[in-house]
Amino acid sequence: MAPQRAPDNAAFAPGKIILLGEHAVVFGHAALACPIERGVYAWAIPANRSQLVLPAGTTTSQRQLLQRAARRAFAVAGYPKLSVRIHWTVPVAMGLGSSAALSVAFVRAILGREGTPKAVERLALDMEREFHGTPSGVDSATSARAALLLFARGRARRVRVAAPLNFVVVLTGARAPTREVVAGLAERRRRIPAQSARFLREIGWLAREGAVAARGGNVRLLGELMNVNQGILNALGLSSVALESAAFRLRDAGALGAKLTGAGGSGGAAIGLFATRSQAVRAARMFGSSGFATQYTGAPARTRP
Ligand code: MEV
Repeated sequence: MAPQRAPDNAAFAPGKIILLGEHAVVFGHAALACPIERGVYAWAIPANRSQLVLPAGTTTSQRQLLQRAARRAFAVAGYPKLSVRIHWTVPVAMGLGSSAALSVAFVRAILGREGTPKAVERLALDMEREFHGTPSGVDSATSARAALLLFARGRARRVRVAAPLNFVVVLTGARAPTREVVAGLAERRRRIPAQSARFLREIGWLAREGAVAARGGNVRLLGELMNVNQGILNALGLSSVALESAAFRLRDAGALGAKLTGAGGSGGAAIGLFATRSQAVRAARMFGSSGFATQYTGAPARTRP
């Protein structure tokens, strides 16, 4: 029997975690973001019109948003006669880059082999605007390149790692949409502009120092920087009881550093950085179905299932 081969229009794109720099990146400072092993699969098959088929269980508001974003991409691609199916392995609306991963996988599926990496990233960011208004672009760049990136002002630099990075992701519950959390920070910036600017600048520096630590294999320092970043995010009103508690539990379980990831606010996900894969897997078990381990080795990206 001939070996099974994925069709040309099948695609995969990973979700992401931000190790350092969320929110500050919206204001032009640096962020350090890493792809995770979970993501979004998309399959396009010939049909008599452009169509996005969403999995059962997608809420009405998610459905409306996703269909709007898909229409935007279909229009740019010249309304290809394709029906696109989606399958998520990354938790949705938890700050793990599910909308960016969906955008990248969707665009790869509709453009097929003709989708150059640049074209995929550009169109995926366009879809992201439908979800988040004014995204910094860090989520779609990390998903499209599937690499640890130091990102600032729309420019991404790949950070090569000296050793694999091992994480536990903990889901703490539903949160407000990213655009609302970002708007909440804008309000705080109006109230205490000088202090907010200082905090955000410091976060950007932490991201740059974190990139150097990751490149040199200094995971202990990277963890310390994550802890400092979490303190600043909390000071800016971006954390919650659930996120703080997850961060403390992760540190108690041996994490070298722990913080919220993504927009934060009332919920979403926290991450812990661990010295080894086995420590991360053991710690993830403590969180039952709300926790999972993920590793970044720096190996070349997989874009087709
Ligand atoms: C990205 O996951 C989270 C924020 O930094 C928004 C953005 O970068 O667009 C809060």
